[in-house]
Amino acid sequence: MYNDYGDEMSNQVDLDKYFKPDLNQARKRSKKTIEELSFNLSDAHQKIGVNKTYLIHTYGCQGNEADSETMAGILELMGFKKAVSEAESDLILINTCAIRENAENRIWGELGRLKAFKRQNPDLILGLAGCMPQEENVVERVLKKYQHVDIIFGTHNIYKLPEYVETAMFSKERVVEVYSQEGEIVENLPKVRNHHFKAWVNIMFGCDEFCTYCIVPYTRGKERSRSKEEVIKEVLELVEQGYLEVTLLGQNVNAYGKDFKDIDYTFGDLLRDLDQTGIKRIRFTTSHPHDLDKKTMEAMRDCQTVMPFFHLPVQSGSNQVLKKMNRHYTKESYLKVLNELKNIVPGISVTTDIIVGFPGETEDDFLETLDLVEQAQFEGAFTFVFSPREGTPAAKFVDDTPEEAKKQRLYLLNDKINQGYLKGNSRFVNQTVKVLVDGVSKYDESVLAGYTEHNKLINFKGHPKLIGQIVDVKVTLAKTWFLMGELA
Ligand code: 5AD
Ligand code: SF4
Repeated sequence: MYNDYGDEMSNQVDLDKYFKPDLNQARKRSKKTIEELSFNLSDAHQKIGVNKTYLIHTYGCQGNEADSETMAGILELMGFKKAVSEAESDLILINTCAIRENAENRIWGELGRLKAFKRQNPDLILGLAGCMPQEENVVERVLKKYQHVDIIFGTHNIYKLPEYVETAMFSKERVVEVYSQEGEIVENLPKVRNHHFKAWVNIMFGCDEFCTYCIVPYTRGKERSRSKEEVIKEVLELVEQGYLEVTLLGQNVNAYGKDFKDIDYTFGDLLRDLDQTGIKRIRFTTSHPHDLDKKTMEAMRDCQTVMPFFHLPVQSGSNQVLKKMNRHYTKESYLKVLNELKNIVPGISVTTDIIVGFPGETEDDFLETLDLVEQAQFEGAFTFVFSPREGTPAAKFVDDTPEEAKKQRLYLLNDKINQGYLKGNSRFVNQTVKVLVDGVSKYDESVLAGYTEHNKLINFKGHPKLIGQIVDVKVTLAKTWFLMGELA
């Protein structure tokens, strides 16, 4: 079956027999109530992976990392064990990211590389999961040109992994099942967490913002919140298992609860309830300025466990660009919300995301962005050059800025952002800060590394037995990317 991996033969593939995605469907937002399902592994599926091994390669955001932990949880319930190497794996899943073209290019390269393993071991099962399969063009390309991929599934049906593995393994059939629209929220999913004291907790899925450059509302579907009971239950269980920190995940956590029909309960309420669970540190990502409300800011002020750190993507400082991006705020209103946040939560550290080279962005627009960065006093940022994503409105906008000019803008912006990083770190010199110790430094085993409450990376000398504890550290030196300190 796998004696030909070439492109020629691939043109004979009958594309229509598969359950493929459709971006037009993905754009639609239904009013239907989201049901809650409970995951249950059938007896037959529980033995499929016995004496077999798996690996999962994860790309992209924390949402994908959390999804990979679920995939690992399902596979281990099926009997699979984690493999030590690709060569020894019986199943390899690639959990993909579609946010920018370079993210996708890396994955195409990865798929090509894995062909060799499939040649050596034709029984190896290769699966493509996550955001890329939600795109029509991706699925067609995989079906035509990457015949060594056995399973293709998207973000909405991870819970069906046992079925897909069974079909690929026993019927030797290719499995392609990508739902264009979200389904139910599935609870009771097993997880193998990558960390022993820090955990991801999904609080909502999807995004309804439709920023014109962004593929996420298509790949992740409609905004839908997990019930507060399920979220609180998960955090309580984590506390019991010894976890110290949770990061609440959603594409727009500030919209949490806005889809609840029967109760008035939003993100600020959730923060207050989670503060009572006994967890030591609560973080969250990511936020939309347009949905950030005072209730959230006040909950941050009142709850000691909610860390004084906020990632608040601004994307641009130019009002005409923000409008074309469909961001629902202006430079002025963003700064107003930011100042309110800084007033209510004094000393809070704020970081952001910025895109340069959006179609039609002029030199003056870019200068507005630099000015906003100056005024906002960001202490860090993820910066990107605009990448057109097929199916999004901005991919069709006229874009006449030369690539060189875009690169130059990114360079200038990063320079300014780096000044903000250093300034943000410098304000802690000579202070004693609380650090959750993550592990030993990559470069020196006698040095520990961890994060402060303000999410600053800090290195200091100490015994590895401190890993997983929150300790006091006196900051002695600030560098652009990290702090140095000594145990207080
Ligand atoms: N091009 C460049 N950057 C993008 N982002 C999202 N879509 C694109 C795109 N098409 C960035 C935004 C977002 C972050 C996660 O990725 O800044 O906040
Ligand atoms: Fe994409 Fe905008 Fe939704 Fe963030 S808020 S995921 S940038 S559409």
